[in-house]
Amino acid sequence: PDTVRIRPGGETAVLRYTGQVLRGRADALRPSASYLGPTLELRRGERVRIEFRNRLADPSIIHWHGMIVPEAADGHPRFAVGPGGEYVYEFTVTNPAGTYLYHPHPHGLTGAQVYRGLAGLLIVREAQERAWGLPGPEHELSLVIQDRRLAGDNRLEFKRMMMDDMNGVLGDTVLVNGVAAAAFRVAPRPWRLRLVNASNARIYKLAWSDDRPMRVIASGNGLLSAAEGIQTRPYVVLAPFERIELLEDFGTRRPGSEVALVSREFASLGMMGGMMGGGMMGRGMEDMMRGMMGPGQGEALPVARFDVGTQARTAGEELRLPPAPRSPREGHELHTRLAFRHMRGFLDGRRFKMEAVADDERLPLDEGTVWTFANDGGPMAMAHPMHIHGVRFRVLERSTGDAPADLREGLVDAGFKDTFLIFPGERVRLLVAPTEPGLFMYHCHNLEHEDGGMMRNCRFE
Ligand code: C2O
Ligand code: CU
Ligand code: CU
Repeated sequence: PDTVRIRPGGETAVLRYTGQVLRGRADALRPSASYLGPTLELRRGERVRIEFRNRLADPSIIHWHGMIVPEAADGHPRFAVGPGGEYVYEFTVTNPAGTYLYHPHPHGLTGAQVYRGLAGLLIVREAQERAWGLPGPEHELSLVIQDRRLAGDNRLEFKRMMMDDMNGVLGDTVLVNGVAAAAFRVAPRPWRLRLVNASNARIYKLAWSDDRPMRVIASGNGLLSAAEGIQTRPYVVLAPFERIELLEDFGTRRPGSEVALVSREFASLGMMGGMMGGGMMGRGMEDMMRGMMGPGQGEALPVARFDVGTQARTAGEELRLPPAPRSPREGHELHTRLAFRHMRGFLDGRRFKMEAVADDERLPLDEGTVWTFANDGGPMAMAHPMHIHGVRFRVLERSTGDAPADLREGLVDAGFKDTFLIFPGERVRLLVAPTEPGLFMYHCHNLEHEDGGMMRNCRFE
């Protein structure tokens, strides 16, 4: 196994993706400085061929999260290959400019493999991005945010207790691009920041330490449209495998100053969150639990520091976001109820079976399906980051008043998404219009919920 330096003073054993360009553009793979895989930089419209070789001791397969690719290139767990096995992907990049990810998807092992290092960024570029007034690649930063538990000897600690299957594995240290206490030096000018949550289970409430508003230009799968415009939020909520892009003008801050990206506290989610601080346990008991388990869902955590340069300020160009594509006709309707009981998640009372797809999991091609997700309320209810493969969808409606008050203002439902957070008791309606035929899937992207079977196939036909 490879070792990398995650925090000063020691090496940590990890798994990692490595790659090389066999032919074509050498700049299509940007090596990463950490355990993260090389950043795949693809251009919209280009044809890609990727050969995957599994050198792990376990089965694996790669999924291109958020990308709309043919069924055979999607990395569904049924395509997992054993140690020494190979899998060849071929697809044309049809997704618009934006921030995507790749990660393993073998059933039952996804959480462990991602946790130990297997994940990478996938960026789609378009020629027009410059014309839209976006900062160029030299003025953008990607922040892949992950929480990890590092033992005293710097070993990554994965599951330690039963709780981990229920809440998902939460860490006590936030890593950005694979390192703890990340810091960036930024020129005083507008930057495009790609914020990526590649954590197994942690939901972040991201804010600037000086409480400046955040200007969101992308909420998931591609940029927002001109009609939606830049969305301004006091903070943004980023669930596992969601991405958000900000346009941040560091030139509006004092030269030589520093500002931090932090995850603010929220009390509304998570079992322990509800019990701790809720007066259900005494203070001493709470402290003991915290010491044992590390920070639970919703605890305040530092993420990264930005040092603003002292050079002269550069003004930005005027941003013109791209026009919105036409909306599909709404024909079909689907309904899925989410429930969590006996430590496991259920989708309409069902759990994952490798090839199974029910009649109410079929979506017509090239037409709009209104897919309603309803999350059970009740004492064991949890928030779930739900994801659908092979499509980008719109959030049509979120039941009002059900999102917790301390997170509500940080949701960005505008634009196209492939992953969305649904809170206990909430109902969210999506408009989904698949274009690729075949067997895809939908699942909770809390990786422990996913590995525990909160995942189902769906067929586009
Ligand atoms: Cu990001 Cu089914 O995965
Ligand atoms: Cu996916
Ligand atoms: Cu879940």
